[in-house]
Amino acid sequence: MIACPTVRKQDIRSHYNLSTLFYRLLWGRHIHHGLWSGDESPRVAQQQLTETLARQANIQRCEQVLDVGCGMGSSSIYLAAQLDCQVTGITISGVQRNWAQCAARWHNVAKQSQFLCADAEQIAFAANSFDVVWSIECTEHLFDKPRFFRRATRWLRPGGRVAICAWLAGNTADCEAMLRVHRVCEGFFCPSLGTADDYRQWCEKAGLTSVRFHDWTADVTRTWEICLDRVRRSGVRWLARAVDRNSVLFLDRFEAILEAYRTGAMQYGCFIAERHA
Ligand SMILES: C[S@@+](CC[C@H](N)C(=O)[O-])C[C@H]1O[C@@H](n2cnc3c(N)ncnc32)[C@H](O)[C@@H]1O
Repeated sequence: MIACPTVRKQDIRSHYNLSTLFYRLLWGRHIHHGLWSGDESPRVAQQQLTETLARQANIQRCEQVLDVGCGMGSSSIYLAAQLDCQVTGITISGVQRNWAQCAARWHNVAKQSQFLCADAEQIAFAANSFDVVWSIECTEHLFDKPRFFRRATRWLRPGGRVAICAWLAGNTADCEAMLRVHRVCEGFFCPSLGTADDYRQWCEKAGLTSVRFHDWTADVTRTWEICLDRVRRSGVRWLARAVDRNSVLFLDRFEAILEAYRTGAMQYGCFIAERHA
């Protein structure tokens, strides 16, 4: 695991409060990578990632899902609309909670969804509350990842699954690679990035079984080629300068993440694991 001790929780909250509108305008409804198999548009590729995770986790009709780090609510809304799931989304950003609530009303799934502004590391749910704990690109922001997996396992019913997509540190002790990952952590407000092996161990130590990992690095990397191009062409960096230093730092690290994926310093993966029935 590579740690970046300068990241503070308030910076993460503030980043998502300030930047959600920009993510929507520059990227789309999902604040996550696209998953490509051909020359799909970014919008289709983003949706493919969500749908592929749902298939891998074998999400069934009407299951109870907790969406940890729900962003604008797009995964939750998809699961509620397409699979009739009952969804609880949590996000550390009040702006995103309001956005997700409005989007759920717009898509006619308000009755099947609730969105809370809460810290996933603080909130408590009763044991055995959910069939699935789903989280796309949020565990990167958590300070105590092993504890999160222990808590998530308790929230699951026996037979329930965790379905996670995460940015990962590559499996290397090379100094340059580690520096690259550190620069990504700093710019994207990640207190640490675990390796695929770290995630597997956190799952197993939490009591989860049948842990499966899929390396999607090659199929998601195009995300950053497109984002870098859009940032350069849109002049959004000038706007970021008017917002705050962290917004500029964030945009300035897009090249670092692209390089990190291309050189193997970082990976991107999906994990599915089960609580014993
Ligand atoms: C990269 S975005 C992913 C959003 C969403 N999962 C998606 O795929 O569109 C990261 C999300 O994690 C949330 N987040 C970060 N730290 C969190 C925490 N401690 N508790 C709850 N949510 C958190 C952010 O508010 C944001 O919604």
